[in-house]
Amino acid sequence: MVKERITEIVNEALEMINNAKNSDELQEIRNKYLSKKSELMSLMSGLGEVSIEERKSLGQELNLAKAKISEALNLKQEEIGKRELAEKLAKEEIDISLPGKNHQVGGKNPFHIIADEITEIFLGMGFAVADGPEIEEDLYNFELLNIPKDHPARDMQDTFYISENVLLRTHTSPVQAHTMLASEGKPVRIICPGKTYRRDDDDATHSHQFAQIEGLVIDKDINIGHLKATLELFAKKMFGEKREIRLRPSYFPFTEPSVEVDITCANCDGKGCSMCKGTGYIEILGGGMVHPNVLKMNGYDPEVYSGFAFGVGIERVAILRYGIDDIRKFYQNDVRFLHQYRKKA
Ligand code: DAH
Repeated sequence: MVKERITEIVNEALEMINNAKNSDELQEIRNKYLSKKSELMSLMSGLGEVSIEERKSLGQELNLAKAKISEALNLKQEEIGKRELAEKLAKEEIDISLPGKNHQVGGKNPFHIIADEITEIFLGMGFAVADGPEIEEDLYNFELLNIPKDHPARDMQDTFYISENVLLRTHTSPVQAHTMLASEGKPVRIICPGKTYRRDDDDATHSHQFAQIEGLVIDKDINIGHLKATLELFAKKMFGEKREIRLRPSYFPFTEPSVEVDITCANCDGKGCSMCKGTGYIEILGGGMVHPNVLKMNGYDPEVYSGFAFGVGIERVAILRYGIDDIRKFYQNDVRFLHQYRKKA
């Protein structure tokens, strides 16, 4: 009787499994035939009431029945699972039309755009980039550049002092002394971009912190023609092929002769306008032939070696190139200002 019932249950279950259409149906069948509340399980728990021999064979029958149903369920589940996955994949679409998250990418400050450009121009002429400390000794900032303690030129370059002989450098020219001393009498061709400081009250044209690029060439037979040609090439690369330069006599303690270098005004092509105050020229930098005293103090024989040097304000070049009206804008980090230069980079 019981055995027949078991066979019936198995047949019934196998038929249902065979007809099952999806995973949910299969799960229901599994619950119905194999869970604790299933008929097979209650037959199992009734085994205690039958004789030992009967218990053994019935037990085997029941286990076999469970195994058959379980195996059939697993096989069917595998088949249905594969089909369902294929259907899901066919149906699912990934919406690639949704815009991605917008990450704002930073851009270079116009100051850096110009500093890099100036550096590139001089690298192209065979200059190397040198570096020097911003916290500088009086010795390098002044003395070795032919500006002794009582020299009136110091008045124009007041700065922030850390101690009597240690200060924030007022120009990049001390790198000249460092480089010459380190080069031990050998030829030099360097530029040095870097920060500089002066005790100035900040306004549209003054900043207590600004930046310069120093240039220095030392070799045998260097003359002022080399200085002019180098700076003319720089002016044309920086401000356009039509620009011309002129050298005006000037004074710096560390050069002799000293010059102020002007370029023809880009606004009026040298005819004279409000930007160049009617002169047709705009001043861009200072330079000159390295003073014999400077050569001597820094390890060169002025009878054998000569050189030229120049110093250019980076903000000054950026202001002229972009028509910026206030030096403080480079340092205020106002994104409305900075964004204007992104595409020009
Ligand atoms: N150091 C000067 C300044 O800050 C600029 C300068 C002038 C640098 C002439 C030079 C030079 O190397 O030869 O005003």
